[in-house]
Amino acid sequence: MIEMGLRAKIVFVVCVALVAGARSDRNPVGPKFTVEPSGKVQFYNSTGAVVTCAASGVPLPTMSWIKQDGTPVQEVPELLQIRPDASLIFAPFRPEDFRQDIHSATYRCTASNSVGIIGSRDVNIRAGKHITRYFTRLFCDAQCAQYIYSSLVL
Ligand SMILES: *[C@@H]1O[C@H](CO)[C@@H](O)[C@H](O)[C@H]1NC(C)=O
Repeated sequence: MIEMGLRAKIVFVVCVALVAGARSDRNPVGPKFTVEPSGKVQFYNSTGAVVTCAASGVPLPTMSWIKQDGTPVQEVPELLQIRPDASLIFAPFRPEDFRQDIHSATYRCTASNSVGIIGSRDVNIRAGKHITRYFTRLFCDAQCAQYIYSSLVL
């Protein structure tokens, strides 16, 4: 009987400890980046790019992207999507669809919860335009064209 009492006590203490632990888990924690995008992202018109950003915190932070002037990044059909996990998706694009404000622009990822808000470093996006077909036909095979393309346009 005494042994049962002891066991019950131990179970009780463990339960209290677990509940206390769970409580402290719920204490708010400010956002902290777990994946911070790099400062420079370059890509070709024909590849596109995915830029990821993630943060931890309690409650789980809300992620968003802003432009250099602080306005929220808007999705642009065919060119720029924002995935539910906050990744920016730059779609492959035709050279004539190049847009300065999308393809040669500075972005910043933010993470916010009830504790506060943090911003990532500036992310400079540079998407390659095209070089004239005439030029590449005249001087280059495909590999050489890619090289010139990346060194001149990006
Ligand atoms: C990217 O640009 C090149 C060169 O102008 C073009 O041939 C290619 O079709 C473009 N890619 C896409 C996905 O439009």
